[in-house]
Amino acid sequence: MARVTVEDCLAQEENRFALVVLAAQRTRQIMRGSHPLVSGKNKAAVMALREIADSKVHWHRNSQEVVQEWIEQTETTKLALVSPKAPRGAMDRALWAGSRAHYDDPGYYSKTYGDRHEDVDFYRALASTEPGPVLEYGVGNGRIAVELARAGCSVVGVDWSRPMLEDLRGRQREAQALGAAGRWAERIELVEGDMREVALGRQFPLVLCTFNTFLHLYTRQDVEAFLERVKEHLAPGGRFVFDLSIPQAGDLARDPERAYKVPRFRHPTTKQVVRYAERFDYDPIRQILYVTMEFQPLDGSEGWVVPLTHRQFFPQEIEALLHHNGLVIERIQGDFGDEPLDRFSDVGIWTVRRRGDAKNQGNRAK
Ligand SMILES: C[S@@+](CC[C@H](N)C(=O)[O-])C[C@H]1O[C@@H](n2cnc3c(N)ncnc32)[C@H](O)[C@@H]1O
Repeated sequence: MARVTVEDCLAQEENRFALVVLAAQRTRQIMRGSHPLVSGKNKAAVMALREIADSKVHWHRNSQEVVQEWIEQTETTKLALVSPKAPRGAMDRALWAGSRAHYDDPGYYSKTYGDRHEDVDFYRALASTEPGPVLEYGVGNGRIAVELARAGCSVVGVDWSRPMLEDLRGRQREAQALGAAGRWAERIELVEGDMREVALGRQFPLVLCTFNTFLHLYTRQDVEAFLERVKEHLAPGGRFVFDLSIPQAGDLARDPERAYKVPRFRHPTTKQVVRYAERFDYDPIRQILYVTMEFQPLDGSEGWVVPLTHRQFFPQEIEALLHHNGLVIERIQGDFGDEPLDRFSDVGIWTVRRRGDAKNQGNRAK
């Protein structure tokens, strides 16, 4: 390659900020003696750009850089709202940000997951078998709760994301103005708080923790605190039902340097057409999958990142956690159908009861 232009480099690395950081890093490394990954005898800075244009090196933010970038960008964009009380430790900040950032933009959340129906149908059918009310942990902006309420069920929803709850409250206000058609809105009561802590002083025949909310419990202590709250809120004989994605070996082995791109789309909040890519970085010790969502507007304005962190729970681990926290499994289903969970399932749904209750009910659980 005789000449290298910025356009050549941008074709490989669209994010200008990333491009500058990567070029500076590689230039320094080459100047300090690192062997260039392309042939030629140009200056270090040119060799670095040629490496980028040739796709020999890629920029990869580590999870802490992503978190820092997200925190800084929340001060300059209207997209996100930095939640108060960010923890001090670098690792904890990554988990804190990864359980908040994705939910700071309810418009984007609804656009991304609005088409998921299997879980909504499943929970609607389940709730119809109970007198109610239902307690939903991680109610978010009501993708599931609103449909339960439309079907006539009363729902108490707990969530710590103010933007998600505000979005749902806005929809409740709009619905209430509609009269009879909006009656569902009166059947949803929202509580802002941490699901590991909130004590409602009430009990429910059906408690739910939906759509991977459980994956925001990162440690054994988190899980234990949460399951204690669940047990406190379960009425005698009541059921706790939760679903989570089953870790897939291939997914966890993804190269963190690789950006998984999807076709450009119009962002529902900023209204810009953006390029979008995701990166996945799995920590096998903490069993945490760090997902980085990268948005790059085509109008040339600055892009942004959103971190999402998901604990990965293997099914046998769930069994042990439930067992040691006084809950017995009544049923495990796969993929919201009637099939049992098996090696081909992407999602597992656990139905459990408090241990003493299960014996009283005389079911098969041990
Ligand atoms: C994947 S969303 C699910 C939202 C909704 N149930 C749905 O199915 O669309 C996970 C929700 O859990 C909430 N969440 C995560 N950790 C939480 C915690 N410790 N306490 C309360 N809410 C939490 C997030 O704010 C988010 O709204």
